[in-house]
Amino acid sequence: MISENKNVFTLDTKNTTYAFMVLPTGHLEHLYYGKRINIGGCAEALSRKQTMAVGNTVSYSGDNPAFSLEAARLEMSSYGKGDIREPFIELIHADGGFSSDFLYDGYEIRKGRDELATLPCSYGSEDEVEQLKIILKDKNYRLTLEMYYYVYKDCDVICRSCRLINESEADVNIRRIMSMLMDIDGTGYVFTTFNGAWAREMDRHDTVVTAGKHVNSSYTGTSSSRANPFVMISKQDTTQEQGECIGLNLIYSGNHYEAVETGMCDMTRIVAGINPQSFSYMLEPGCGFEAPEAVMTYSGYGFNRMSHNMHSFVRKHIVRGKWQYKERPVLLNSWEAAYFDISERKLYELAKAGKNVGVELFVMDDGWFGNRNDDTCSLGDWYVNKKKLPDGLKGLCDKINRLGMSFGIWVEPEMVNVNSELYRKHPDWAMDIPGCAHSEGRNQRVLDLCNPDVAEYIIESMTRVFSSANIAYVKWDMNRIFSDYYSRYLQEQGRQQGEVAHRYVATLGKIMRTLVERFPDILFEGCAAGGNRFDLGILCYFPQIWASDNTDAVSRTYIQEGLSYGYPMSVVSAHVSACPNHQTLRVTPLSTRFNVAAFGICGYECNLVDMKKEELNEIKAQISIYKKWRHTMQFGTFIRQRTGNIHQWTVADADGRR
Ligand code: GLA
Repeated sequence: MISENKNVFTLDTKNTTYAFMVLPTGHLEHLYYGKRINIGGCAEALSRKQTMAVGNTVSYSGDNPAFSLEAARLEMSSYGKGDIREPFIELIHADGGFSSDFLYDGYEIRKGRDELATLPCSYGSEDEVEQLKIILKDKNYRLTLEMYYYVYKDCDVICRSCRLINESEADVNIRRIMSMLMDIDGTGYVFTTFNGAWAREMDRHDTVVTAGKHVNSSYTGTSSSRANPFVMISKQDTTQEQGECIGLNLIYSGNHYEAVETGMCDMTRIVAGINPQSFSYMLEPGCGFEAPEAVMTYSGYGFNRMSHNMHSFVRKHIVRGKWQYKERPVLLNSWEAAYFDISERKLYELAKAGKNVGVELFVMDDGWFGNRNDDTCSLGDWYVNKKKLPDGLKGLCDKINRLGMSFGIWVEPEMVNVNSELYRKHPDWAMDIPGCAHSEGRNQRVLDLCNPDVAEYIIESMTRVFSSANIAYVKWDMNRIFSDYYSRYLQEQGRQQGEVAHRYVATLGKIMRTLVERFPDILFEGCAAGGNRFDLGILCYFPQIWASDNTDAVSRTYIQEGLSYGYPMSVVSAHVSACPNHQTLRVTPLSTRFNVAAFGICGYECNLVDMKKEELNEIKAQISIYKKWRHTMQFGTFIRQRTGNIHQWTVADADGRR
């Protein structure tokens, strides 16, 4: 429930309370985030007192010389008026100045919520979510900042986002705009981040921030395997079952930024939003800019409770559509079985072997289109390779369907190889800087999604592919990180190159939304060189994501345990693969590989055709067990018991009976 009482705003969920108040200057003071309490008339007691200007701090105004923004515990901080910590917003005005001073101007409370217009966001019915809008106006420039709070009481989650509106006659340049900012009392909090690289995603790292600041961010153009946007802030003695912890995520698939910074007055600032690095967005008169939504949850009962809040929130208020609560099919993917070397006969044999052990969905991975025999060519040419599939997608799909299995494919629509018909026809559709040598990743370039013709091409070519056969599943891949950020289209439009990365993800969302609405029955799985884009932005469109190209069971215990802090198992795709493992060369028993993959959306990615009879029997038994238990495994409550190099996991149905 959201309430306002004498300029004090209280946001209650089932077990938590979040509160802030308007100070006499018009700035917002953060009061409290923690276990549910009744603030009643006690807000004044929670407010920080400033009785003198400390040392060489700046007094905000002559009216109250004792008040310094640097010593205040803020809910939003502009830039340039004495608060020198991480700002919420940084603008360059038409006069060249970069100070802002946003002050309180009013509020609105409503049941239900408005969707964001340009970015993916959470959702809920009028019974599930309430919205608070706080209106701030800049004291000196005609700019409005609307700060939004969305309260999901049942999940103990509060989301925040904001919108900047330019009501002046002049352009304003946005250099930074965060989604949330909060100062909390004390220092020495543990900032937990989940870092890694290709094939070693989501490795938990704890940093105690006693001084200075610690930043978790990505500049890959994606949310990245280097630093997932999900982070935690906890006390040093917090464990899985006890102690205080805040979980924080961002509904954004692009360059993100989370920082924890200590201040001079025994306080810690937390911010999260778009990564300001190379971000620069021109906001014209009459226009608005939306920041992505940040998701926060507080637990007074350790990390497990925090995860349970996040899990139910992701399931109920992020994942959409037909597959939201539907048990996912057991699939067999062709990648590690055949790589690029596929043919209709080979795939059909593999599918048949899958059918014999109980597989429900057969997925043809990379290699089926253009002249794709390795990763040097054909991305962009979305037509079937008739040498490999003489009867086209439909021919193979019909055969698989006749086996009693559904059929799925792999695509990588955001990319182009220079060696492709698409590039030869439209070299200007790829992102590169005119006149400069381009640095490639996996021999490919990123398409310029800022260009509406490119977006249209992706939508139309994918529509053609998805409707050319009875396609039940699509794995949507994205295999390189950005370099040479540049859009010729934006250049022609007279816009700044600092907008490229953000406009890319905003358009990507529109493309994905169009396609999932056009093909509501298809089960989409996100992928980006494994888990390079495992985030809530993608999950607003696709109900599951491939966690990592590393299918080694031991590595997967770390990766899946890392994911389990912020994401439910119903969105984590995990496969049993061959031994020695193709990525690590490690040998593990088949039972271990299944035991790990079963704590997620379990599939197989190995050459069943060449497997021994005993192994196939074992797989058959695994699949049959998984089918019996998959509702619990995918949608149950996941509990981490021991962590570190001993992983102990339990999953239970909501009623605790299984
Ligand atoms: C990426 C994916 C893999 C596979 C290959 C195909 O690496 O993560 O699962 O689909 O691309 O090229």
